[in-house]
Amino acid sequence: MRPVEDRFRKGDEFVIDGVSLDRILADHTTPFYVYSGSMIRDRYRELTSAFPGFDVLYSVKANPNPEICRILARLGAGAEISSMLELRTALDAGYAADDIIFVGPAKTEADINLALESGIYAVVCDSAEDLRQVDRLAAGLDRIQRVLLRINTVERPASREAMVGGPSKFGFDEEKVVEQVRGLELRHVRIAGIQVYSASQVLDPGFLSSHLEYVLGLGLHLSAELDLPLEAIDFGGGFGVAYEEDETELDLAPVSETAAGMLETHAGQLRGCRLLLESGRFIVAESGVFLTTVARTKQSRGTSFVVCDAGMNAFARPVFMKVRHPIRLLNRIAEPAAGEFRVCGPICTPIDCIGQEVHLPDPRPGDSVGVFNAGAYGWSMSLKDFMSLPHPSELLADNGNLTVIRD
Ligand SMILES: Cc1ncc(COP(=O)(O)O)c(C=O)c1O
Repeated sequence: MRPVEDRFRKGDEFVIDGVSLDRILADHTTPFYVYSGSMIRDRYRELTSAFPGFDVLYSVKANPNPEICRILARLGAGAEISSMLELRTALDAGYAADDIIFVGPAKTEADINLALESGIYAVVCDSAEDLRQVDRLAAGLDRIQRVLLRINTVERPASREAMVGGPSKFGFDEEKVVEQVRGLELRHVRIAGIQVYSASQVLDPGFLSSHLEYVLGLGLHLSAELDLPLEAIDFGGGFGVAYEEDETELDLAPVSETAAGMLETHAGQLRGCRLLLESGRFIVAESGVFLTTVARTKQSRGTSFVVCDAGMNAFARPVFMKVRHPIRLLNRIAEPAAGEFRVCGPICTPIDCIGQEVHLPDPRPGDSVGVFNAGAYGWSMSLKDFMSLPHPSELLADNGNLTVIRD
């Protein structure tokens, strides 16, 4: 991971996109998130320049804040949504309906109806039942809806967040899809291609490269087997982020090379075929810092606890996903670490620890705690109503300006 200090430290303070965190803390009460608009734009551009010829869809679930969604819509991103509210957020933020796909294994009639009425590009279907339901609802609206078949491939992703390779609630099992789809009487859906989301948080460029080639091969094969015009292939994504201090950043260069080679080799077969990628965390994770305040410190049987005003109620990701996000005491950055601490929140469960074995200067009540790489699945994944504590607010720093984007 690129050290937090390289990214955010300026002299004796941390600065995010031209705004000093000390200044933000003086004016705003913790807990809150602050994101950098410039970093989000840079990361999005990193993806689009690595994959010319592909459309990048922002996965709204990663950070559904309307202003964050707007930043990416303005850059021309599409959106991958998984619920009716995410669809409304995306449409309100300015994403063109034709650049939105709906992915989710439990779509309701109301979800599908809104998607159809909005004219989104594609609904991704996980089963024959899913296809029949979209077909029936599209018939009711007298429309023909483009759909993509989500495939649970036999790939083995190098990630603990793998979604293919075994039994799955997502998608058609690869070995069964032809038999399950062939012969279905569908008059109001047009199967236009496939989608394969194999895993999240992949840091191995080798897997991502072979995934692109695998999905392309599968798309061409299924299009021949099922006699489908190949209008789109959604390769999913899985672009990971070096969250932890000792993790190595994902090197996109080899994946980019594979993609370019693929486009060249298969130019004829891919003419007129839209190539899609989905990404959430790669674009927004590193842009965000979560801020909380030390409420108490205590020693218990050899462990030093730091209890903060917010934990898993406002930032649950370290607890659920067991990720060691970098943590710093923002008002004490010039001081050396004095020991190892367990950083916890106020919630009445022992699992409410957002940092284990964290090296910090001796914490004191009132110290400001910054948890880094918190821009994705932070606000959205947290248990905000647990214990009826205040919800975290969200701020956007952008080229020296600060805006409250959720109070
Ligand atoms: C189908 C699908 N697409 C995209 C994403 C976004 O993943 P990430 O934020 O890791 O890019 C997810 C995450 O769960 C997903 O399930």
